[in-house]
Amino acid sequence: MADKPSKSKPGFGAMRVTPTGAVPAAAWKIVPSAETLVKGAAQEMYIDPDALDRYEEFTADMRNILLKYEAAMREMVVRFEILDRDLSLRRNRNPIHHIESRIKSPLSIYDKLLRYGKKPTIGNLEKYLMDVAGVRVICSYKNDVKNLMGLLRRQDDLEIVQVKNYIENPKPNGYRSLHVIVRIPVYFLDSKEMVPVEVQIRTIAMDYWASLEHDLKYKAIAETKGLDVGEELLNCAKTIEEIEARMQVLANALDSGPAKNGKKGARNR
Ligand code: GTP
Ligand code: MG
Repeated sequence: MADKPSKSKPGFGAMRVTPTGAVPAAAWKIVPSAETLVKGAAQEMYIDPDALDRYEEFTADMRNILLKYEAAMREMVVRFEILDRDLSLRRNRNPIHHIESRIKSPLSIYDKLLRYGKKPTIGNLEKYLMDVAGVRVICSYKNDVKNLMGLLRRQDDLEIVQVKNYIENPKPNGYRSLHVIVRIPVYFLDSKEMVPVEVQIRTIAMDYWASLEHDLKYKAIAETKGLDVGEELLNCAKTIEEIEARMQVLANALDSGPAKNGKKGARNR
């Protein structure tokens, strides 16, 4: 088990993977997209007061609702921590390298609803946005991703709403990850609600590529000094995938190797 805090990823607060580890306060990353708030060209920017009023009203209503998503996110994180702990104790394996989590910022929520062509209301947030709560599980090896997914499917109070397997079917730009929308029960004083959480499960190698690609994308360079950035990123993705496959072979060999200390293929961290 990685017992050290790891570097934050864009929008995701890194966290310790320990049963007692506190979930960080929602890592608000206010992205100054402001497309919806600020009108006009760069030389003549002004805030549209009506839009600002609507946005402020929306964020005020939203604070309460976000508590529910934060609860769901924390519950989901704990489930992964328990799986990792259990596998560590019973099979001497640590499939999870680390876990990150984040709650979508009010501005991102507001922008996304408008992008979907929906009015920014709490009702539409609940109806159309499945990624208000996000949990990212970073595994050591590709096999771990598949195994974790199998274990999730066995949790019978968890509703699996959607699976997008960008590992079997990578995106054209080279992005690989397993995306799962789940609904997890959250218990309140007098009610239970199934709250959606977007879970992304990927390997360290996939995460490495995705993080750098995310940064580069925002630099918005299509072509730099004769370098085709998109093509280069795709080539890097393929190279990383090859290396990942070789590391998996090594890991498999260690797992099936001679027993040490009575434990076969000990790969516990
Ligand atoms: P949205 O309407 O934005 O939710 O589109 P979608 O539902 O088709 O999104 P998808 O499930 O494909 O991806 C959701 C999340 O996955 C994003 O917010 C990113 O965190 C991550 N992601 C998806 N594609 C890429 C990519 O090409 N590069 C990187 N770095 N991250 C990606
Ligand atoms: Mg989505």
